[in-house]
Amino acid sequence: MNRRQILLGASGVLAAAAVGAGAWRSATGTMSAYDDYSARLRAPLSGEIADLIRYATLAANGHNTQPWRFAAAADAITIAPDLSRRTAVVDPDDHHLFVSLGCAATNLAIAAAASGRPGEVIIDGPTARYTFTNGRRADDDPLLAAIVRRQSTRADYDGRPVPPGDLAALQAASVVAGVDLAIITAPAAIAAIRDLVIAGNGAQMRDAAFMRELKSWIRFNPRSAMESGDGLLAVASGNPSLPTALGGFAFDHLFDTAAENERYARQIASSAGIAVFVAEQADPAHWIRVGQACQRFALEATRLGLKLAFVNQPVEVAALRPELARLIGTTRRPDLVLRFGYGPSLPFSPRRPVEDVISS
Ligand SMILES: Cc1cc2nc3c(=O)[nH]c(=O)nc-3n(C[C@H](O)[C@H](O)[C@H](O)COP(=O)(O)O)c2cc1C
Repeated sequence: MNRRQILLGASGVLAAAAVGAGAWRSATGTMSAYDDYSARLRAPLSGEIADLIRYATLAANGHNTQPWRFAAAADAITIAPDLSRRTAVVDPDDHHLFVSLGCAATNLAIAAAASGRPGEVIIDGPTARYTFTNGRRADDDPLLAAIVRRQSTRADYDGRPVPPGDLAALQAASVVAGVDLAIITAPAAIAAIRDLVIAGNGAQMRDAAFMRELKSWIRFNPRSAMESGDGLLAVASGNPSLPTALGGFAFDHLFDTAAENERYARQIASSAGIAVFVAEQADPAHWIRVGQACQRFALEATRLGLKLAFVNQPVEVAALRPELARLIGTTRRPDLVLRFGYGPSLPFSPRRPVEDVISS
């Protein structure tokens, strides 16, 4: 059976499953209920500690596992790893997990400073602590408004280049000690990175353990995303909303390496550029710093009207890292790869309630 036949077969299954709009809605949830849920997660900041943590949790994080625990004290908020949310296959050394903590630390620092609690982030081994100081209230931080609008947008962009002034602003916004950022806009270099993304994607899709882990984090419809408050919502990646069992079937039988590679090639060709983050050292403290820089990049990009999406295959498949490093002229381990450009907004991804991530 070729791919087309499988697709046609699947559409028959889909039609058979669509026993009625009411049954479909109750199995998948409606987008309007999901939009209300998303809007509540992104409500304006009140300045309460729990609300600062809500803003922190809106940060980018690998597979949307939200691998963090927050602890609030009179003088600080600590972000510690939640190792029960590791993704051992795609992230065996917890690199992405610690990057995710750094992303949350950036949001927390911006939100806290804007609501009258200026401070500084101190990285202490595997934890990040935001310590309140008596500094200036930073209620005019232009990145604050971007926290609720930023998203990973896995869509085709429109191919327009980013003006040099905005590329310089992206670079300037992302400065964090110990982390370098390479912004690549030359078509030949982008094509070379595209080839690594495709090679990495092929390797991952041939890896049954990778696919099993990925599937366990996919939420095939808004109802299941709202129930778990985590994971990768199918419609937030431009895929249809399906009842969970049917989504699992489609994932197992219709997810096709050649089609996915084509999609990555098209999406990278539609992007204005690629950003690669590289830390001075490969350890949890530096990975947290990479997350801080990357989240600042994402917020500045959002402020400038840009969209972005991670294409991390060349750093996740360890064998591809040396070639990526060579392409960007470093001998260090590259940490993150993102594409950016002008594109549409997609539905936001879910988050767990703040009560679920606060340690008492
Ligand atoms: C360290 C890290 C690695 C990530 N890797 C990928 C990736 O390879 N591919 C991808 O599509 N998204 C990747 N993401 C994006 C997350 O899936 C995304 O942040 C999460 O699902 C939450 O969605 P949001 O960014 O739209 O809020 C990564 C994010 C982080 C922080």
